[in-house]
Amino acid sequence: MTLAGRTAVITGASSGIGEAVARNLCQAGVKLLLTARRKDRLRCLADQLPDTSFLAGDLTDAELPDRLIRQALDDHGSCDIVVSNAGIIETGKIEEIDLDRVSRMVRINTESAFRLAYVALRHFRSVGVGHLVHTSSVLGTKVREGAGAYSGTKYALEALSEALRMELAGSGIQVSCIEPGLVRTELHEHYEVHPAQALGMSDPLQPEDVARCVRFILQQPSHVRIPRLMILPGEGSL
Ligand SMILES: NC(=O)c1ccc[n+]([C@@H]2O[C@H](COP(=O)([O-])OP(=O)(O)OC[C@H]3O[C@@H](n4cnc5c(N)ncnc54)[C@H](OP(=O)(O)O)[C@@H]3O)[C@@H](O)[C@H]2O)c1
Repeated sequence: MTLAGRTAVITGASSGIGEAVARNLCQAGVKLLLTARRKDRLRCLADQLPDTSFLAGDLTDAELPDRLIRQALDDHGSCDIVVSNAGIIETGKIEEIDLDRVSRMVRINTESAFRLAYVALRHFRSVGVGHLVHTSSVLGTKVREGAGAYSGTKYALEALSEALRMELAGSGIQVSCIEPGLVRTELHEHYEVHPAQALGMSDPLQPEDVARCVRFILQQPSHVRIPRLMILPGEGSL
């Protein structure tokens, strides 16, 4: 399926996977509406990419999803693809982890993704077509000690996506989950020891590797559906 001329809303576009997906889809001729909290980053990226606008905001603001869809329609005339990618990570044993930080992670990784899905699907239903892509994780498919809370937020995304896959079967609307293993981004910047080092991994995934996979999913003809795609680094067992 040709992507040229379609419009994508991308959350978490100010760095890492979201930024790489923006650059990749732009090369395919997709018009973009980018969002994240860091406005300076979004402006800088939008300045580099043709047919790209941005709307800075915090996804825990329940009004933001609706504003995003409306701005995509205003700026670019359509909203065909939503890449629901923003997320944070909090780790620690369940008995020790800071519950307020877990609650914030649940709000960003899960609640805001549910809200965005709800609004995006209402729009897709109104036009009969659309593709929602969630950035889940390999930790949305299995639990690792110390990452149970983060896994929980991603398992919830997997459940949402699988329910929607069944509920939307036969429609022109698709939902996909990408499930990356360790990717070199800003996600783990607050860690004292980066997981790549802790896992003895010298060559984790790069955001561009994940972006290529997102484009692959979106480029399939309409009778082909890829509900889940796991992307792992070549080394290590994670
Ligand atoms: N890196 C990995 O190893 C890995 C593996 C599997 C899955 N993932 C998932 O990939 C997704 C992207 O993460 P990344 O690795 O690319 O990390 P990243 O570089 O830290 O990107 C996270 C993005 O989310 C945005 N964000 C965070 N909190 C937000 C909020 N409250 N409101 C709006 N935007 C918010 C950030 O933008 P602002 O700070 O500007 O708001 C940033 O653009 C996440 O869902 C993550 O769980 C990552």
